[in-house]
Amino acid sequence: MNIITENLCKSYIKKGHHDVEVFKDVQLNITSGQKIAITGPSGIGKSSLIHILGLMDRPTFGNVYINGVDCFSKDDKYLCDMRKRSIGFIFQFHYLMSDFTVLENILIPVWAQKNQKLNQAKSILDRVGLLNRQDYFPNELSGGQQQRVALARALINDPQIIFADEPTGHLDKFTGLEVEKLLFKIVAELGTTLIFVTHNESISAVADKVIKMREGEIVYE
Ligand SMILES: Nc1ncnc2c1ncn2[C@@H]1O[C@H](COP(=O)(O)OP(=O)(O)OP(=O)(O)O)[C@@H](O)[C@H]1O
Ligand SMILES: [Mg+2]
Repeated sequence: MNIITENLCKSYIKKGHHDVEVFKDVQLNITSGQKIAITGPSGIGKSSLIHILGLMDRPTFGNVYINGVDCFSKDDKYLCDMRKRSIGFIFQFHYLMSDFTVLENILIPVWAQKNQKLNQAKSILDRVGLLNRQDYFPNELSGGQQQRVALARALINDPQIIFADEPTGHLDKFTGLEVEKLLFKIVAELGTTLIFVTHNESISAVADKVIKMREGEIVYE
């Protein structure tokens, strides 16, 4: 899945405050199967950018083309369908549903087809090493295990592109590295495009491209 952006800008308008221009003129050309890292200090706009690329928020100006489709010329229903069909998202915190088991959490994005997807959900759980935890609840798991479930949930719709916003940011260094390695291994096996936010230089070093967000500029490497 390839993604091209044109003059992408984001400003937030909040009553009683000056408008905050987070970024402007972001020009990206991401080809299928690439791993793209986004780095930069807190508050610079990494999450804002990844939310727009993942079709969860609209830009103030500019366009995002995914496989040639001018996404933001479409209505919210189209964007929602496209997200369900082709995009997986992993957040800094797992956002698992506490009253659902591990297996049920993985099936939530495809709930209408949960019976047909059951075997696939189990095989993804096996892949992330948690088949023996399928009937556990999220609060019965370690932080690294919770994040591996969040990774498994992002895979259930066979996404062509995965977005990860500091998916290991709250884990200790060793556990975080283990989860990141697993994420890279799986996207390499599946050939999925990966766009991830990280503060870890050794992780950004394995990316095909690094987008360094700085005050007032963006450096592409
Ligand atoms: N919904 C919103 N309304 C108003 N301003 C917002 C909104 N969301 C984010 N911002 C502002 O946009 C800026 C960028 O926020 P963003 O979350 O994208 O940063 P970030 O680079 O992901 O930071 P962090 O590394 O801490 O996660 C911040 O100054 C923030 O206050
Ligand atoms: Mg952020």
